[in-house]
Amino acid sequence: MTGSEIRQKFLDYFEKNGHKVVHSSPLLPANDPTLLFINAGMNQFKDVFLGNEKRDYARAVSSQKCIRAGGKHNDLDEVGKTARHHTFFEMLGNFSFGDYFKKEAIAYAWDFLVNELGLDTERLWFTVFEGDDVVGPDDEARELWIEVGAKPERILGFGKKDNFWQMGDTGPCGPCSEIHYYMGDDPANNLAKWVNGEGDTTVEIWNLVFMQYNRTQNDDGTFTLTPLPAPSVDTGMGLERITAVMQGVKSNYNTDLIKPLVDFAAKLA
Ligand code: ALA
Repeated sequence: MTGSEIRQKFLDYFEKNGHKVVHSSPLLPANDPTLLFINAGMNQFKDVFLGNEKRDYARAVSSQKCIRAGGKHNDLDEVGKTARHHTFFEMLGNFSFGDYFKKEAIAYAWDFLVNELGLDTERLWFTVFEGDDVVGPDDEARELWIEVGAKPERILGFGKKDNFWQMGDTGPCGPCSEIHYYMGDDPANNLAKWVNGEGDTTVEIWNLVFMQYNRTQNDDGTFTLTPLPAPSVDTGMGLERITAVMQGVKSNYNTDLIKPLVDFAAKLA
């Protein structure tokens, strides 16, 4: 499957499941002084999550062009060191604005990866938020992964750094649950230690954020989490990463999305 076919399959799958297909917004945020470049699919829906804007749909799907080269989500320092970072990428995402929540988000993700793309479930790992002093552990997400078919030993708990997502210092945020994929050749090396571990042995492919709070800054510099008007869903899957998985290559740079650019530059050089 080409990268373009995977993008289309994602959009079609969620459209079939009641999501409005929304175009990628431009890379420069239209109306958000907190961001220099768009860094996630949810950016263009920020005000919808916050309840400041109403749309005539409660479910959306997009393939959003993103740049992560500074700010809260910065991939710049990873370029050239990993097989999966390149600062500019496309993020496939499905969104619920006060409509469905964790149960459906997890069921859709499993169904798309396992039944639509045919990924080997033996290679999949799942992470859930293990809680901190403000927000409790996400036992519900753990149970929901087991319900759809994940093996309990493949579900790992992580802290705030990995499993609580916020777009910046302020704005919508919430605990998240990630799906990771073992890229290695040796089944004996398909180990928990590679999930959020070193190298590209196991890579995060999709992040499901359970949007529940607005993070605001107080006059004294501290931050407060206020519940959103309604629990919502924001997901992001790296198009180039899932394409590497589907094309059986170990690096995003070897997918049909990026390789022709590298070859072209090499030829010129
Ligand atoms: N907004 C979430 C992320 O960027 C999905 O990981």
